[in-house]
Amino acid sequence: MKWDNIFKWEGKVALPKEGQFIKLKEDKSLEVPDNPIIPYIEGDGIGPEIAPAMLHVVNTAVERAYASSKRIFWVELLAGDKAEEKTGERMPKQTLEFLREAVVSIKGPLGTPVGKGGKSLNAILRQSMDFYSAIRPVYWLGQPSPIPNPGRVNVAVFRENSDDVYMSIEYMPKAEDTQRVRRFFLEEMGVSEDALPPDCGITVKPMSEFKTKRHVRKALRWALENGKKTVAIVGKGNIMKATEGAFMNWAFEVAEESEFKGRVITKGEPLEGQVLMVKVITDQMLMQLVLKPEAYDVIVTQNLNGDYISDLASALVGGPGFVPSGNIGDGYALFESTHGTAYDIAGKGIANPLSLTLSGAMLLEYIGWKEAAQLIYAGVKRAIEERLGTPDIAGGFRKMGLHAKDLSTMDFAQAIAERM
Ligand code: NAI
Repeated sequence: MKWDNIFKWEGKVALPKEGQFIKLKEDKSLEVPDNPIIPYIEGDGIGPEIAPAMLHVVNTAVERAYASSKRIFWVELLAGDKAEEKTGERMPKQTLEFLREAVVSIKGPLGTPVGKGGKSLNAILRQSMDFYSAIRPVYWLGQPSPIPNPGRVNVAVFRENSDDVYMSIEYMPKAEDTQRVRRFFLEEMGVSEDALPPDCGITVKPMSEFKTKRHVRKALRWALENGKKTVAIVGKGNIMKATEGAFMNWAFEVAEESEFKGRVITKGEPLEGQVLMVKVITDQMLMQLVLKPEAYDVIVTQNLNGDYISDLASALVGGPGFVPSGNIGDGYALFESTHGTAYDIAGKGIANPLSLTLSGAMLLEYIGWKEAAQLIYAGVKRAIEERLGTPDIAGGFRKMGLHAKDLSTMDFAQAIAERM
């Protein structure tokens, strides 16, 4: 599978002469040329196996959809283990600069070494371009799943990415600064000793109006553009009134803004071109997702709740191996697989490439190349219908008493490409 539009890192970042950068316009919308330069980071662990599979499927889809009138020029950027090996740094400055210049990009999983110093590369990336909303559309494509009628699941989880526990301030139990914070609360704020005993730890989780509202606006625009009907604002607002409660109230204020007035309703049945915004408490949402997943189209929530909810939603359709994601800011976007590096199976050629491949389809939709994205969904559906897949998929079918043969990562990608 030789593609001459993939420019691997060879001692330096390549800049394809035939390609052009996507431009970010003043209103933060994109100007996409027919020959965009799109950077990709392979990722660690199974990254070098799933990234070529994704590139093959996306390239095939673009070729089928547009013949030679549109073409992506892929440029490999280094990060993680490969970057450390080649440059001595886990996140070279050049990678961040190139990602910003290119506006839209895609990455495989990056490992965070446990017990070693250094910030998580994913956190560096998220903050570098202020990707304040993480979007995980969860839908079922026919794979084995733990619930009956998994086709009922079709929900996009919008997780806030720049507030809450991503910005938490941690005071460890018994540390000197923790005692200072405690004394402040006990002596100056009238908090009881029972609430803050001497051996307690304290986590501060901030949540702010500006960050909440821009996230909610993004989710509402997406819901309206995609013809969705129900947007659930989720949090433990009844308990954490100053943070999650405020988030939920701010969301309803956004619904009143002129852009959304009449299009986002808060009671009654939504008509064509309208969405209904409802409030749901987190624990209730977790239960509802299992019992009645068809009731929700879009979930808008904070960082920590978004983490739980998106993993539960992913599990309903068979696990994170099947679910794509995008980190989106004001125009800038970085798409990525939702699972980790899976070091335990790396190098064996058995990793499921779907999460990254579907993230590639999401990228295509983001740049407006919807026809190519549709071909990918169709190819994946047909391949799975024929029970073709990597061992996690084929094994799932066998557990159901059905015959299915294990395919390698690349053979599965090829099967998808042949079925578009
Ligand atoms: P993991 O997702 O890498 O692995 C959990 C289990 O799922 C393993 O048994 C693995 O073999 C399996 N698995 C994961 N992806 C698979 C795929 N595509 N096909 C087949 N099986 C798959 O989670 P873990 O072990 O917690 O994390 C490993 C590393 O990945 C950590 O360093 C973590 O920080 C990093 N990570 C990175 C993420 C990112 O870059 N966005 C997201 C999550 C974890």
